[in-house]
Amino acid sequence: MKIAVVGTGYVGLVSAACFAELGHTVTGVDIDAAKVEMLKRGKSPIYEPGLEELIERGLREKRLTFTTDLTAVLPDIQVLFSAVATPPGEGAKADLRAVFTVAETVGKHIDHDLVFVNKSTVPVGTGKECETRIAKLIKERGVSCSVPVVSNPEFLREGMAVTDTLMPDRIVIGANGDGWAREKMQELYRPITRVGKPIVLMNRESAEIVKYAANSFLAMKISFINMLTELCEKTGGNIRNIAAGMGLDDRIGPRFLHAGIGYGGSCFPKDVRALLATAGEYGLDFPLIEATDRINTHQRKRFFEKILATLPAKSTVAVWGLSFNPKTDDMREAPSIDCIKALTDAGHTVRAYDPFAMEKAKPLLPSSVQFANSPIDAANGADATVLLTEWDIFRGVDLGELKKMMKGQDLFDGRNVYEPEEVKAAGLTYHGIGL
Ligand SMILES: NC(=O)c1ccc[n+]([C@@H]2O[C@H](COP(=O)([O-])OP(=O)(O)OC[C@H]3O[C@@H](n4cnc5c(N)ncnc54)[C@H](O)[C@@H]3O)[C@@H](O)[C@H]2O)c1
Repeated sequence: MKIAVVGTGYVGLVSAACFAELGHTVTGVDIDAAKVEMLKRGKSPIYEPGLEELIERGLREKRLTFTTDLTAVLPDIQVLFSAVATPPGEGAKADLRAVFTVAETVGKHIDHDLVFVNKSTVPVGTGKECETRIAKLIKERGVSCSVPVVSNPEFLREGMAVTDTLMPDRIVIGANGDGWAREKMQELYRPITRVGKPIVLMNRESAEIVKYAANSFLAMKISFINMLTELCEKTGGNIRNIAAGMGLDDRIGPRFLHAGIGYGGSCFPKDVRALLATAGEYGLDFPLIEATDRINTHQRKRFFEKILATLPAKSTVAVWGLSFNPKTDDMREAPSIDCIKALTDAGHTVRAYDPFAMEKAKPLLPSSVQFANSPIDAANGADATVLLTEWDIFRGVDLGELKKMMKGQDLFDGRNVYEPEEVKAAGLTYHGIGL
């Protein structure tokens, strides 16, 4: 099938490359000309394991092309995915300007039936608004064609995005009215459903809500376990044992019960707050979601305060991990930004290391931050080491060597990666969370 994916960011680019891998003919469209030029050369503007290989293959086999000109692509396609950004706007509501721009471009230029798919995370009602705007513009031009708007939210995890897209737990499709749009979507996803992956069909409003519900629920699970860490620290409980004791119950499950400095990234913080904003618009109170956000902010602050209270004046601090999660270079809402700023504001020197995110991090961090070539290089002569992102490379670090390289002995483990006893045996002082 011939399709376009508008917005070639973390979601759109992965979707475009994966749809091409599955045999469709795909054009990736973006307003960022530099990004499009890079993509045309087979270079990925983001770090995502396995992605560049798919882009290269798609280009080589001519199933994948890139352009900045959406209007030139429209005549040839049957399905358009809008995967543009929906960042936090006024009052934490999703900023939908890019989504409406894409919808209006379609309304102004389309002359045949097309399925318009919102893959971006958008509040309930956005699909209806897009459909109305497109239909109005088509009518004004006196053209006869139909553009139903379908919701197909994305659940990929950065760092696992290619696998998640090719082998998703489920595909959610929300469509109202036109049966042919739903059928087109089922046909498009057949290469994935053929291997047993389920499609969950529902109306458009439900699909729009599912995405916020799923992200807020996962965020709530993280905040729940983090809430208990303070109680552990005051009473001698061990949060890892508590998570294991809870998570082995099938009804609860072990995932997202890993205590740490809380969630970050481009989705959880903004989607939790956007769901609260939507609830507010309908006069509803969502105290669980409000608490999820509050606990997350508190958890981060608590960890930073612990570091600041322990460090001697004018310390040198090694910071391990800058991206919000491992296996991605995405710095949006990364805890490292606030943590490093708190450290430098307090007069400390920061030497940071991240396997992939240092380039993207540089413009976001204070100019005094130094960047190292390896974890041990960052820790050389440091008074303390602070682990913020659980990249694999930090897990296997030789703690004895770390102790030798450091001037001080404090290891702050923001992700509870290390065994406290092993850290102590290496001569370091361990500061975990809820342990
Ligand atoms: N990143 C994730 O892990 C993830 C997961 C699931 C859902 N989502 C949702 O997917 C959407 C996209 O997120 P992302 O992380 O890929 O964002 P992103 O910022 O990485 O990418 C958005 C892209 O859209 C482009 N763009 C903006 N306006 C445009 C326009 N008018 N025409 C063409 N291109 C335009 C930008 O240049 C950019 O390349 C958001 O709604 C987000 O909430 C993200």
